[in-house]
Amino acid sequence: MKIIPGPASKQLGEEVAELLGVEAVTLVFKTYPDGESYVRLEGTVQNEEVAIVQTTSPPQDTRLIQLALIADAAKRHGAERITVVVPYLAYARQDKVFLQGEAISTGVVARMLRAAGVDSLITVNVHQEKVLAKFPFPAKTVSAIPLLAEYFKQKGVDKAFALAPDDGALWLAEEAKKVLGGGCGCLEKHRDLHTGQITMEKKTLDVGGKTVIIFDDVISTGGTIALAAKIMRELGAGKVYVACVHPLLIGDAEKRILEVGVEEIVGTDSVPSRVSKVSLAPLLSRELTR
Ligand code: R5P
Repeated sequence: MKIIPGPASKQLGEEVAELLGVEAVTLVFKTYPDGESYVRLEGTVQNEEVAIVQTTSPPQDTRLIQLALIADAAKRHGAERITVVVPYLAYARQDKVFLQGEAISTGVVARMLRAAGVDSLITVNVHQEKVLAKFPFPAKTVSAIPLLAEYFKQKGVDKAFALAPDDGALWLAEEAKKVLGGGCGCLEKHRDLHTGQITMEKKTLDVGGKTVIIFDDVISTGGTIALAAKIMRELGAGKVYVACVHPLLIGDAEKRILEVGVEEIVGTDSVPSRVSKVSLAPLLSRELTR
């Protein structure tokens, strides 16, 4: 096997190659003055099983095209099998028609990757696992929640209460609880499909005086987490921490979350950012050898 670290996940791809003890194929990459992407493989991939590591966090469209170009280059130059490792899978949240007239974005992304020569896909904490069943090739998601929980355990934040902002994310809190050994629970979130505005119901949760860690898959604008943290404060929680797999942190999301009294935000390098303190390399390299 050979690894091709894409421009959006260069460091992560190189770490995965190092952990697996395999070659990281060098990629010449540039952006033309008009914004178009150019890629060229410097190493050989003839008759090789190849894994391309490229996240598709913002700018999503550019990174998706880069991923498709790399897959095409690998296929064209004789790669036997291509797996794409896409830690943050863009467009995965638009997995159905919510409002009349919409596209199913995730299906379009899957078909585009297929057309570029992709044989299988590995992603991390995709928003809805069921979307992957509709991909035209084997696609699976793995969870980074145990790694995030382990980060807090190592830090000495043990027996914390693991909270999910809504019941769809409760399983994340349950997974974290297995590592942390405290309690877990969720709030109830509603999102207005037209305005995107969220509201959250304050539920009775036994968090008084306890350290709480809020777990979510994605932090985008930070609205969800800021609201959840505020409710934890109102319920008398002690310290409040935040853990997320994909720290997109759009605009002033980080500030917004810290302003409500959150001690620390911890994310993975699925989306390289200031809070990416947990590496996905061990998880992904393990997955590639299964
Ligand atoms: C949605 O259900 C996701 O799990 C996240 O909670 C959401 O994407 C976070 O978005 P934001 O940070 O903009 O509230």
